[in-house]
Amino acid sequence: MSKLVIAIDGPSGAGKGTIARAVAAELGYRHIDSGAMYRAIAWKSLREGLALDDEAAVVRVARQSPVEIEGGVVAIGGVDVTREIRTPDIDRAAASVARLPAVRDVLVARQREMGEGGAIVMEGRDIGTVVFPRADVKIYLDASTEERARRRANDPAHSGGPTIVAEVVSALTARDELDRTRPTSPLYAAEDATPVDTTGKSVNEVVEEVLTIVNRRLESVLPAPSP
Ligand code: DC
Repeated sequence: MSKLVIAIDGPSGAGKGTIARAVAAELGYRHIDSGAMYRAIAWKSLREGLALDDEAAVVRVARQSPVEIEGGVVAIGGVDVTREIRTPDIDRAAASVARLPAVRDVLVARQREMGEGGAIVMEGRDIGTVVFPRADVKIYLDASTEERARRRANDPAHSGGPTIVAEVVSALTARDELDRTRPTSPLYAAEDATPVDTTGKSVNEVVEEVLTIVNRRLESVLPAPSP
């Protein structure tokens, strides 16, 4: 069985987490949510009272406090922050630290290390463009803004935020804008990524669609059976 590197990028609420987790489970691969790494650094930086635009201070946190992600649990410096990093404050704080090039350098290097042996599904914003430009499979997941906002409003893992869809739409649009317009590693679809629109589709339908793309790739890398 080939150990592919699968990159899944796209904006918030496109369904990356759910789809990446299911695809990884189906293939027996590791699933890494790279956004959780930015969130954990933001959480710790806030906790230490740092200004989030103080690049030297935040990068020190990133260097000194490795983020561990194992089986859906996210920890930084040995502290389990799985729940704490899914709040509106951390949404905003993570988008701020993700703008800092030196922080990205540290996290991208870690993400590449994680991908060294392959057999990994990594989701984020720059996985197919920056982290693994030569990934075996690149998927760009998207959905309409309304659907993404509806999903975020109904996400039980995301606590303390607005639950009125119209309010979520404006918070989401603002954050998308930050991700898309930042000078370093902005969110965009890699040229060779396959776009998958998840609007109106069930999780199963999208997982099947992604697995079909993965299987096509697997067939192309596996040696042809001997006659
Ligand atoms: O996917 P998420 O919402 O948990 O990501 C949190 C923040 O980190 C978000 O502002 C986008 C940013 N991010 C990034 O810049 N690069 C990644 N590879 C993953 C997330």
